[in-house]
Amino acid sequence: MSGEADQAAGLRWAEVTPRDRQPFDTNVAHSARVHDYWLGGKDHFAADRAAGDAVIAAYPGIVASVRANRAFLARVVRFLAAEAGIRQFLDIGTGIPAANNTHEVAQAAAEDCRVVYVDYDPVVLAHARALLTSSEQGATDYIDADLRDQEKILEQAARTLDFSQPVAVMLIAIMHLLVDDDDPYGIVSRLMAAVPAGSYLALSQVASDIQAEQMAEARRRYNRLAHETQRHRTHAEVERFFDGLELLEPGVVAVHNWRPGPADEAGARSAMWGGVGYKR
Ligand SMILES: C[S@@+](CC[C@H](N)C(=O)[O-])C[C@H]1O[C@@H](n2cnc3c(N)ncnc32)[C@H](O)[C@@H]1O
Repeated sequence: MSGEADQAAGLRWAEVTPRDRQPFDTNVAHSARVHDYWLGGKDHFAADRAAGDAVIAAYPGIVASVRANRAFLARVVRFLAAEAGIRQFLDIGTGIPAANNTHEVAQAAAEDCRVVYVDYDPVVLAHARALLTSSEQGATDYIDADLRDQEKILEQAARTLDFSQPVAVMLIAIMHLLVDDDDPYGIVSRLMAAVPAGSYLALSQVASDIQAEQMAEARRRYNRLAHETQRHRTHAEVERFFDGLELLEPGVVAVHNWRPGPADEAGARSAMWGGVGYKR
């Protein structure tokens, strides 16, 4: 489809109110596929590319930002499996498989790690087989569910995870896709209430107070063109997700500053806040 047709598809969609939108229309941009476009993957449609390009035009740093977030995900998982002794991961908002999927990083550190992936996008579901290539000692599972339905997630995750043992709850680059009416803080606290002491929360989300003007314009453009409505949050709003948990050093920081390693690209800066909390 041409760039003009891409634009037209997006603009037609913009005339529909969010409540009227049908889920998973490939003529409408969706976060999993836009994210895949920014990461250089192959699973995106014209509408996703149009929304992705509209965001790039407002905030050219977006591609470096999502890559830095992906590197954050890998560092966090490596830390949790190799240093914190975590063997169970509940990764909600998995995304289309890319480099360093959670089970690959976790099982490279400890082969017996068990990983449950959750996403609500059928394109991610179609790729689930690539996420189910566990080591023999470990296990992976995939749940087709919406983060707003925590009961379903927890019930189905119990097929693979032992909720009497510590679990790392991963909410990486998903919370900005939940608006305030979705009760995002309630969702996180209900998930953390379901896991025992010794568990962790790893969370990142798009910031409203880094590159604030560019990000606000990027959000406006995305929200005009996409299925989900983005809600960017300040540092204090992101820190609030960790209420009741012990925040690990260095706290909630731009994700490229969370324990960067020598392999991390020096230029990969991010407009996302992220951190890791420990449940005592
Ligand atoms: C920006 S991508 C992040 C992917 C991956 N976590 C990463 O950081 O590379 C967000 C993912 O969350 C999923 N998602 C968004 N809202 C969701 C919801 N309410 N329930 C389940 N998945 C959701 C999207 O389908 C998409 O795959």
